[in-house]
Amino acid sequence: MELKGKVVLVTGASRGIGAATAKLLARHGASVAVNYVKNQAAAEAVVKAIASEGGRAAAIHADARNPQEVAALVEETKNELGPIDILVLNAGMGVPLKPFMELSYKEFQNKVMGEMDCFFHPLKAVVPSMVERKSGCIIGISSGLSRYPAPRFSAHTTAKSAVDGLMKSLALELGSYGIRVNVVSPGLTMTDATAWQPKEQVEAIARMTPLQRVAQPEDIAGAVLMLASEETRFITGVYIPVCGGQLML
Ligand SMILES: NC(=O)c1ccc[n+]([C@@H]2O[C@H](COP(=O)([O-])OP(=O)(O)OC[C@H]3O[C@@H](n4cnc5c(N)ncnc54)[C@H](OP(=O)(O)O)[C@@H]3O)[C@@H](O)[C@H]2O)c1
Repeated sequence: MELKGKVVLVTGASRGIGAATAKLLARHGASVAVNYVKNQAAAEAVVKAIASEGGRAAAIHADARNPQEVAALVEETKNELGPIDILVLNAGMGVPLKPFMELSYKEFQNKVMGEMDCFFHPLKAVVPSMVERKSGCIIGISSGLSRYPAPRFSAHTTAKSAVDGLMKSLALELGSYGIRVNVVSPGLTMTDATAWQPKEQVEAIARMTPLQRVAQPEDIAGAVLMLASEETRFITGVYIPVCGGQLML
C-alpha cells in the first residue's frame, strides 16, 4: 500500500484512462477524487468500485477548463479527503481528426487552448498548497503523438507538445519545493475516445508494436502508479511512453 495516506486528484476520472488510474491508485491505498464533467453516473460507478475494494473516493464535478469550477473541485477534495498530494492531469479535449487544410481556426483553438486550460487551472489551484507543504507529485497525460505525429492529428500533436513543454518547465521550477512533475505518454489505448478506430487499423498498429497489442487503460494506469510511488522519488522531468515499445527514446 505505497500510497496509503495520500490524496490524489485525477481529472477526467469517470471513464477510460482516468477511471483505470483512479481505481489502481485507490487499490494501492490512496484516497481519490474522481473528477467528471458530464457523466456523473460513470464517476459514481468508479467510486463504488473503489469502495467495494475497501478504498476511499469521492466523485466531484468540474469542467477542468473552468477556473471557478476547478477551485471548487480542489476545495471539495480538501474537505472530503484532505489536501492533494498527487495530481493526475488526465482530462483533455477530443481530437478534431482533420487534415490541416480542412482544420478551422476554431477547431484548432478549441483543442489546443481547451487542453491547456485543462492543465493550467488545476495546476494553479493545486500547486500553491504543494509548495507550502514542500511536497507533491504531478503527472501529466500526454500522447505518443507529441513525439511522432500522424496525418490528421496536427491539433492533437500541438496540444500534447505544449503539455510536454509545460510539464518540463514545471519540473524545473518546482523541483526545489520537493515537487516532482512527469509525463506519461500513452500510445493507442482502447477507450470511448478511440472506439471509432476501425478494427483493421487497431490490428495493424498492434502488428507494428513490439509487444504485439495496443494498450488497455490499466496499462497506462500502471505507469502513473509507478511515478506516483515514493520508490520513484528521484525521478522528475521525464516522459514515459507507454506503447508496447512502439516509441523508443
Ligand atoms: N485513448 C487513447 O488512445 C489515448 C492516447 C494518448 C493519450 N490519451 C490521453 O489520455 C487522456 C484520457 O483519454 P481517454 O481515452 O481515457 O478519454 P475518454 O475515455 O474519452 O474519457 C475522457 C474522460 O475525461 C473527462 N473529461 C472530458 N472533458 C473534461 C473536462 N473539460 N473536464 C473534466 N473532465 C473532462 C470525461 O468525463 P465525462 O465522463 O464526465 O464526460 C471522461 O472521464 C486524454 O488526455 C487523452 O488525450 C489517450
